[in-house]
Amino acid sequence: MTAIEKFYIENKVVVITGGAGLLGCKHAEAVIEGKGIPVLLDISQAAVNIADRRLKEKYGSACKIETYVVDITKREEIEKIAGELVERYGHIDVLINNAANNPKVEGDAANMKAIQFENFPLQMWMEDIAVGLTGAFACAQVLGNIMAKQGKGVILNISSDLGIIAPDQRIYQKDGLAEEQQTVKPVTYSVIKHGLIGLTKYLATYYAQKGVRANVLCPAGVYNGQNEEFLQKLTNLIPMGRMADVEEYKSTILYLISEASSYMTGSTVIVDGGRTCW
Ligand SMILES: NC(=O)c1ccc[n+]([C@@H]2O[C@H](COP(=O)([O-])OP(=O)(O)OC[C@H]3O[C@@H](n4cnc5c(N)ncnc54)[C@H](O)[C@@H]3O)[C@@H](O)[C@H]2O)c1
Repeated sequence: MTAIEKFYIENKVVVITGGAGLLGCKHAEAVIEGKGIPVLLDISQAAVNIADRRLKEKYGSACKIETYVVDITKREEIEKIAGELVERYGHIDVLINNAANNPKVEGDAANMKAIQFENFPLQMWMEDIAVGLTGAFACAQVLGNIMAKQGKGVILNISSDLGIIAPDQRIYQKDGLAEEQQTVKPVTYSVIKHGLIGLTKYLATYYAQKGVRANVLCPAGVYNGQNEEFLQKLTNLIPMGRMADVEEYKSTILYLISEASSYMTGSTVIVDGGRTCW
């Protein structure tokens, strides 16, 4: 097999949690372009419908895409889908743990002072952890077990540059607001994204002898309509001086879920324009 051929994931079944979101759809594009079959799991029916339509418009209505409306905080729902996929395809090859509660705190987003650390509601803590960490744990447990029995599989967790460094809260501040009214990046974001790196190392070593690899990708922010003031503050913190284009993680995703990265496990792959170097 040539180096380029190793990137192809022909007929591989790739489960993507939060698959109908902004980046989840791009992970799905990477899978389709690698000739694999993306399985989008998402809690939002509306988002799933849009993602399915857009992917078929882009790659043709014959392209294989599976979509499920599912809440990954409910283990029985994950088990049901896993059972259906095994029955249909006989194998599940990749899990991308991508789903998250993503409170929008950048730029023009509504002020969310309740998420300041001293006011952070326990309920919100539990809900965020339930999706970002416990959901990833449950999916890794259900699908990882299937992969271990197959003797082959890949788990890719999606962390963030904020899995490596703390958020610089100054970039979310707005002029003219008192300190207690300022928006902050929530504590759960840091905890979940750092936690996913720990989960990855655990899974990588636990499954190393069973043919299941686990790695974690730490992407930085992508352009998504943020206002000029926010962009200026953020890009000042990034050596390359810009956010990522939403397309820019696809090739790294394909590398990490394919045979191209066959000797890689337990690795933290940072793709952030250099932000975490500063
Ligand atoms: N967008 C960025 O700039 C950026 C940067 C770094 C890291 N990330 C990470 O990448 C991942 C994807 O980010 P995004 O920007 O596409 O976010 P997004 O909000 O667009 O997508 C997240 C998806 O997860 C789904 N989801 C939420 N709870 C769920 C549940 N219980 N069960 C199933 N699905 C559920 C949502 O419906 C949504 O479609 C996240 O983990 C995020 O933290 C994003």
